[in-house]
Amino acid sequence: MATPSYNLTDREFQEIRDLFFSLSGVLLADTKKSLMAGRLAKILRELQLDTYHDYADYVRADKSGFEKQRLVDTLTTNETYFFREEAHFELLRKELIPELKSRRSPITVWSAACSSGPEPYSIAMELANHLGYSGWQVTGSDISQKTVTMAENGVYPLEMAERVPEHYRKKYCLKGVRSQEGKFIIKGEIRNSCQFFTWNLMKRPVGFGPFDIIFLRNMLIYFNATEKETIIRNIVSALRPDGYLIVGHSEALNFAQAYLNKVKPTVYQPIQGAVIQAG
Ligand SMILES: C[S@@+](CC[C@H](N)C(=O)[O-])C[C@H]1O[C@@H](n2cnc3c(N)ncnc32)[C@H](O)[C@@H]1O
Repeated sequence: MATPSYNLTDREFQEIRDLFFSLSGVLLADTKKSLMAGRLAKILRELQLDTYHDYADYVRADKSGFEKQRLVDTLTTNETYFFREEAHFELLRKELIPELKSRRSPITVWSAACSSGPEPYSIAMELANHLGYSGWQVTGSDISQKTVTMAENGVYPLEMAERVPEHYRKKYCLKGVRSQEGKFIIKGEIRNSCQFFTWNLMKRPVGFGPFDIIFLRNMLIYFNATEKETIIRNIVSALRPDGYLIVGHSEALNFAQAYLNKVKPTVYQPIQGAVIQAG
């Protein structure tokens, strides 16, 4: 039987873009049309649907939440790697961990768009190197359930270990054998102090936090101004009054200057007494 091919019309692109926006807050650029067509074609084939419009109807009618989650998992951009933007890890190592450890224990860190886990595990390695295996807790969350499951597993292709500094690789990573040949695994002692869950940052955090440090890196770039503000207000509500918010090097928070003080490029602290409206 011939493999069916599909044509994503402009109208269908808009329809699925709106649906994805309502689920995630991310507004896909027009340039993402062929990416959407390619990624969703596999699902259409699996569900034996004829058009992308039929798929949009299918997602909207899905009461279980499975198909909505799959759409989010399929259309989010999850690129990540260990020790990405090294300057932030140097800051943790040289300034933030020494400062915070004199203030409280455990030090709590939230990697708020953690993708498949390299960011929270890089943070965890810095903390373990300084404090040992206790006295800290790393929380990772992402809207993509698929990537959160990967983070929980803590198993990665061996090539990804190249970015982990050698002494951390030796101390905190294990080489996979047998069924995990060609992979490496984050050691159990590190994973024990890391927890993960699926979370949409468009929602106000409830039931977790407050955190000493929040990493929100390489995520805001996918959002428009209104959604960026909502996310930052939500994030700040889970930050301790003397905590730190760290964003990616291409992400400035000028719009939040009424309640966030830039202590250095990409690093912010709440302004004491500032009123933050709910996101
Ligand atoms: C490019 S990755 C960045 C990962 C990591 N922070 C880093 O810098 O390497 C962006 C992540 O943001 C997540 N994301 C997108 N929209 C989100 C939302 N509304 N709530 C939570 N996470 C979201 C995506 O699923 C993706 O894993």
